[in-house]
Amino acid sequence: MPPEERSILPLPPRLLYNWVSLLGAVLAVGSVFAFLLLFTVGLFVPRSNPYLGILLFIVAPGCFFAGLFLILAGVWAQRYKIVSERLQIDLTRARDQKILVGFALGALMFLLATVFGSYQTYQYTESVQFCGTSCHVPMTPEYTAYLRSPHARVACVECHVGAGIGWYVQSKINGLHQLFGVATDTFPRPIATPVKNLRPARETCERCHWPERLIGNIDRTFYHYLSDQTNTPFAVRLLLKVGGGGVNGPPSGIHWHVSRGEKVEYIATDDQRQVIPWVRVTNVATGETTVYRDQNFHDDPAKYTIRTMDCMDCHTRPSHRFLSPNEAVDDAITAGQLDRSVPSVKANVVTALVAPYQTTDEAMQKIAASLRAAYPGLPTVDGVVAVAQQIYRDNFFPEMKTDWRTHPDNIGHKIWPGCFRCHDGDHKTDDGKKTIPADNCNICHIILAQGSGDQLKQLKADGYDFFHIDSTYLDFSCTTCHTGALQK
Ligand code: HEC
Ligand code: HEC
Ligand code: HEC
Ligand code: HEC
Ligand code: HEC
Ligand code: HEC
Repeated sequence: MPPEERSILPLPPRLLYNWVSLLGAVLAVGSVFAFLLLFTVGLFVPRSNPYLGILLFIVAPGCFFAGLFLILAGVWAQRYKIVSERLQIDLTRARDQKILVGFALGALMFLLATVFGSYQTYQYTESVQFCGTSCHVPMTPEYTAYLRSPHARVACVECHVGAGIGWYVQSKINGLHQLFGVATDTFPRPIATPVKNLRPARETCERCHWPERLIGNIDRTFYHYLSDQTNTPFAVRLLLKVGGGGVNGPPSGIHWHVSRGEKVEYIATDDQRQVIPWVRVTNVATGETTVYRDQNFHDDPAKYTIRTMDCMDCHTRPSHRFLSPNEAVDDAITAGQLDRSVPSVKANVVTALVAPYQTTDEAMQKIAASLRAAYPGLPTVDGVVAVAQQIYRDNFFPEMKTDWRTHPDNIGHKIWPGCFRCHDGDHKTDDGKKTIPADNCNICHIILAQGSGDQLKQLKADGYDFFHIDSTYLDFSCTTCHTGALQK
């Protein structure tokens, strides 16, 4: 090393006079700008985005250190004469003036581009596309189901990211945690529900759905086909007493649980909240409480977390519904995608769908093979295979070990206990005087019509008894036989 260089330690600013170091400096300053901008945006937007944390604490510092590195690399190269020419600017020279102005303008443009680019990136992390597709494997099931849901036009962040400073910090940590999970391939399969840190439902859903408004009855028909040779149609037309939270009268019906006047709390003894042995109803105005307890539960409720019931306790799958094969095949027949005149098409397609497969590719091949074996010589077998494969791709995700079995749907009571977690006749007050209503099927809905063909036109205003295939149905627990696959 030449002596003149050594004599001017520590690092003489002269060593910074090179293009590499200058570019590094611009990059470092740009990243500080981007950091400050994103930080400010994060403080003011109504909702905070978990992935902003990645930009703030990984991307921006990353660029900053890359800038520092360039500065040092330039100094190093200069010092060891890797680049021979030292940058010398002499403002008396016209050429140097031009270069300097050019550089200053370039740097300014770069800063503006950083500001603009980081804001664009931030916007992108808010998009459905980012949430649904950027970490491809883990989000595929939820994204696929979402695209077919009534909320397909509602952005993921609308439901998944909360507002306010508390959520701001929490969601940043969450975003980093998820990034780590994806980078190290340690994310859970399936992604478990209920989501513990989802924003409170009443905040989320009520921005668009006003519970007081949900008044009246909903008329809905459930179309099914039996798993017999002729795929016999069987439909149930229900009038669901959804009710409301009391704008035009007292709170009533199914949405009574979320009315302002009453608070329903419960404890669950399992992670998926499927076993609910203790329920407390509080009248908000008087503070009066009623406690219902499963007759077989003698534990102390204080040992468990008490949860206030909200929309998500019934609407568990508002936008990520994985259909059971039974339902999906029924829907395909109703929609005319599967031909009902193909013998036992219901039973055969359901059977092909539920066999255990390790990957989607394996499923595609084996579903085709099993249906081709079931229908030798049927000219339309290709169509049957295509529909079955599509149902599989829409609802089964072996790579994520996710399908209808892994995520409880609590809205009814046929294949998950749902309403019957509490409305089972066993939840009573300690004096035995009151029971959570379960004594008849008409509390929640009446059966306006059932069967097929002309039977569906004979409406009965006060409801039929449920005529279950070949007998009137009186016992309660549908889940002992109905699993979503073929009935036991
Ligand atoms: C209408 C509100 C809403 C929208 C929009 C929404 N989600 Fe969800 N999401 C939920 C609810 C509610 C749950 C919790 C379900 C439960 O507890 O069973 C959930 C659960 C999840 C889970 C946990 C696993 C599971 O299947 O339960 C993931 C992952 C997820 N959502 C991703 C997404 C992605 C990605 C998008 C956008 C493509 C999105 N969500 C859009 C409401 C929503
Ligand atoms: C950003 C607004 C928005 C948010 C937030 C939102 N929804 Fe919705 N929701 C809608 C719209 C719009 C529809 C009607 C879609 C249609 O009819 O095509 C809808 C429809 C529904 C339906 C009727 C579905 C059907 O089968 O017709 C239910 C149930 C529902 N939402 C529940 C929820 C729940 C539970 C949450 C909270 C997790 C929620 N929504 C959050 C906008 C929203
Ligand atoms: C006790 C269970 C339960 C709770 C709690 C509940 N719902 Fe519902 N909700 C239902 C049922 C059952 C239906 C009827 C539709 C069905 O069966 O899919 C329904 C229907 C709806 C509909 C569709 C109404 C229509 O006109 O199509 C919306 C929207 C809705 N609920 C939103 C909410 C919101 C928002 C909350 C929270 C404030 C909530 N629900 C709480 C059980 C519940
Ligand atoms: C966490 C327990 C719990 C779950 C789950 C639950 N309920 Fe309830 N439900 C109650 C309690 C408690 C009452 C009120 C009992 C009383 O009168 O004090 C009630 C009352 C009702 C009522 C009568 C409301 C009125 O007009 O007085 C209807 C209807 C109802 N529930 C429907 C449903 C439906 C439908 C579901 C499933 C989608 C469901 N419930 C799930 C606890 C529950
Ligand atoms: C606590 C409220 C409640 C009670 C009590 C209740 N149901 Fe239901 N039931 C529901 C709800 C909510 C749905 C709608 C589920 C959905 O939207 O998918 C439903 C759906 C149904 C369906 C249609 C299911 C399908 O997939 O075709 C039938 C049939 C039915 N109930 C029969 C009965 C019978 C029989 C009884 C009495 C033994 C009964 N229910 C008691 C709440 C109730
Ligand atoms: C003892 C067993 C058993 C119980 C309990 C039971 N079912 Fe069924 N259910 C069956 C069988 C078997 C069939 C005929 C299935 C077939 O041919 O595909 C059936 C068919 C049905 C169907 C039409 C076909 C289909 O695939 O959906 C509906 C709807 C239905 N049951 C609803 C209910 C409801 C609601 C309850 C609870 C109130 C209930 N079942 C309880 C055994 C049972």
